[in-house]
Amino acid sequence: MTKLRDVRRCRRAGLLMLGLAPFGAGCAGAHEAQPPEHSAGSEGHGARAHGGEAHGEGHQHRFEDPAAYAAAWESPERDAWQQPAQLVATLGIVPGMRVADIGTGTGYLLRYLSEATGPEGRVYAIDVERAMVDWVTERARTSGWTNVTPVLAPYDGPGVAPASLDRAIMVNVWHHIEARDVYARNLREALAPGGAVLVVETRLDAPEGPPLHYRLPPEQVMAELRAADLDVALSPYANSRQYAVLATRPR
Ligand SMILES: C[S@@+](CC[C@H](N)C(=O)[O-])C[C@H]1O[C@@H](n2cnc3c(N)ncnc32)[C@H](O)[C@@H]1O
Repeated sequence: MTKLRDVRRCRRAGLLMLGLAPFGAGCAGAHEAQPPEHSAGSEGHGARAHGGEAHGEGHQHRFEDPAAYAAAWESPERDAWQQPAQLVATLGIVPGMRVADIGTGTGYLLRYLSEATGPEGRVYAIDVERAMVDWVTERARTSGWTNVTPVLAPYDGPGVAPASLDRAIMVNVWHHIEARDVYARNLREALAPGGAVLVVETRLDAPEGPPLHYRLPPEQVMAELRAADLDVALSPYANSRQYAVLATRPR
C-alpha cells in the first residue's frame, strides 16, 4: 500500500515535470522521495546538483523511478498535445543519421527516432540517470529497436564522441542543466559540422508546467546556444505548451 502511494505521488511529480498537471497543483508527498530541498508543488526543483556544486543557473532534479514517470510521460494525453511524430519530423532526419535523444527519460521519442534513422542509423538514448538508462535499454531490447544505444552521460555534456551527432533533441531537459554555458560548448563539440539540436522547453504562458521562475524564455535559450557559436533560430515546431529552438553547428 505504501509502495502504491509512493508511485502515485511520484506520478504526480512526473505530471508536473512535463506540464501535464496544473501549475502549482499539490504534489503531496512527492518531496518525501526527493532530497529535502525538493519541495512539493515546485516540481521538485532544487538548487544543487547531485553532490555537485550549484552554478546558479538550471536546477538539477533526480529522476530515479522510471516506472513511476512512465505513466505520465507515455500517455495518450501527452501524445495529443506533444504530437511526437510531428516533433521528430521537424529534425529532418534521413536514414543512416546519428541522432541523440538527450535526457531521454523513459524513451518517449525513441520509437520515432529509431524508425526515422533506420537500420543503418544510430540513436543514442542519453540520460544522466542510471535507472532511466537501464529502463530504455530494456525497452529497446523488448521493442526490437536494434539501432538504439543507451548512454549514461555526465551532467556537463552528451557523453558521446566529438562530431558524432547529425541531430539531437532535448525535450524538457535544458532548464534542468545547471552549467548551461559549459553544456552548450560540449554539445557543440558532439555535433558534426552542419549537425543540429532541437531544444524544446515550456512556454512562459503555458497554463501547465514548471513554476514560472524555472521556465526559460526562448530568447534566453537562444542566447545560451548562440554563445557556444551555434547558429540559432526559433523552430516552426510549437504546441500549446512548448516552443522549440533549433541550433546548428556551422560547417
Ligand atoms: C522532464 S524529463 C524529460 C524526459 C524526456 N525527454 C521526455 O520528454 O519524455 C528530463 C530528463 O532529463 C534527464 N536529465 C537531466 N539533466 C540531464 C543532463 N545534464 N544530461 C542528460 N540528461 C539529463 C533527467 O534524468 C530526465 O530523465
